[in-house]
Amino acid sequence: MSDFPPLQNDTFLKAARGESTARTPVWIMRQAGRYLPEYRALRSEEAFFDVCRTPELAAEVTLQPIERFPLDAAIIFSDILVVPQAMGMSVRIVAGEGPTFDRPMKVPEDLERLVNPDVHRDLGYVFDALSLSRARLGGRVPLIGFCGAPWTLMAYMVEGSGSKTFARARSWLYRFPSASRDLLERLTTILIEYLVGQIDAGAQAVQVFDSWAGLLGPVEYESFILPHLRRIGREVAAMRPEAPRIIFARGAHYALDALACAGYDVIGLDWTMSPSAARRIVQGRTTLQGNLDPAVLYADPEVIRREVRRMLVEFGPTGHIANLGHGMHPDHDPVHAGVFVDAVHRISEELRRAE
Ligand code: CP3
Repeated sequence: MSDFPPLQNDTFLKAARGESTARTPVWIMRQAGRYLPEYRALRSEEAFFDVCRTPELAAEVTLQPIERFPLDAAIIFSDILVVPQAMGMSVRIVAGEGPTFDRPMKVPEDLERLVNPDVHRDLGYVFDALSLSRARLGGRVPLIGFCGAPWTLMAYMVEGSGSKTFARARSWLYRFPSASRDLLERLTTILIEYLVGQIDAGAQAVQVFDSWAGLLGPVEYESFILPHLRRIGREVAAMRPEAPRIIFARGAHYALDALACAGYDVIGLDWTMSPSAARRIVQGRTTLQGNLDPAVLYADPEVIRREVRRMLVEFGPTGHIANLGHGMHPDHDPVHAGVFVDAVHRISEELRRAE
C-alpha cells in the first residue's frame, strides 16, 4: 500500500528488526481501553463489538492513546474474539464478566457447527478499520495488527468465557486430542489469511496473542501449540516478509528457545520472565518486548521511573521494545501511563549517552 503517508517514526520497526535506535521504542498492550476517559465516553454510547465493527469508531479509539502520549506504535482497536464470531459463534462482552459465548463447544461434533469464514467478507471490517486508522495516523507511528493464537482462541471457544484454570478447554486436549488438533489446524489456516489481509490493509507489524499459553505444560505446548505458531510465523513471513511478527506467549517460559526460531522477529515477555535470562536463551535471535509488571503503574511516578530504569538496563539498548508484561488495567491512572512512556524515552536516551 504505497498511498499511505510516509512514516516519520520508525524506531519501533527498527527495534523489531534488531537495528539500533536513538532511544528505546515503547507501546502498551491495551493502550486503547477503559482506563482512558475518552474511551469510556465512547463506550457509554456503543456496544463493544459495534465499536470493533464500525471502522470510523475503531479508528477513533485506535488513535486515542496516540493523541495523548508520545507512543512509538499504534495497535488497531479490535478483539481476538472476532475470529470465533466469523466462524459463526455468538460472543458478547458482559460488563464485569468479560467475554461470554452463548453456546461454547462441548463435544467434537460441535466442530460441525463452525463455518469456514470468507476472511475478506466476514472480517473485512477489521481491514477497513486498519486502512482508515493508517490514513488517520498520517505516518506519525506504525500501526500494529493482531490476532489471538489458535490455543488461546480454542480456550475461549470451549470454555465459553474467561476462567482461572480453563479446565474444560484443557480437558479437550486429553479427551478429544484429534478434534482439538482439527480445531487448532482450522484456526491456524484462517489466522494466516487474516494476518496477511491485515498487512495488505495497512498493518506494518502483527502480534499474535497467546495469552493462555502458560496454562499448558511443556509436552502439551510442544504438541498442541508450537506447530501452529510455527506455521503462522513462517507462512506469514514467507508471504509478507516486510511486516515484523511478534509472538506474546504469556507464561510460556519453557518455550522461549523454540519460539526464538519459530518465524517471529519479536518475542513478548510477561513480567514473570527475567529479561536477562530471556536474553541468554534467545541469544539475539529475536528482539524482546516487555515486560514491566502492570501493577507498577499503580505506584508513584518515582517508583515507575526506578522500575523502568531497572528494566531498560536489564534488556540493554538494542533488540528491545518497551511494553508492559500484559495489558493496561481499567483502573490505571492515564497520567501514570504517560509517566511510563516518558520514562522509557528519557532514561533510554540517558543510558545510551552514558555508554
Ligand atoms: O491493545 C489494544 O489497545 C488493542 C485492543 C485489544 C482489545 N482486546 C480491546 C478490548 C486487544 C489487543 C485485545 C486482545 C484480547 N482480547 C486478548 C489478548 C490480550 C490479553 O489481554 O491477553 C484477549 C485474551 C481478549 C479477550 C477479551 N476481550 C478480554 C479478556 C476482554 C476483557 C473483558 C473484561 O471485561 O475485562 C475483552 C474485551 C475488550 N477487548 C476490552 C477492550 C478494551 C474491554 C471491553 C469494554 O470496553 O468493556
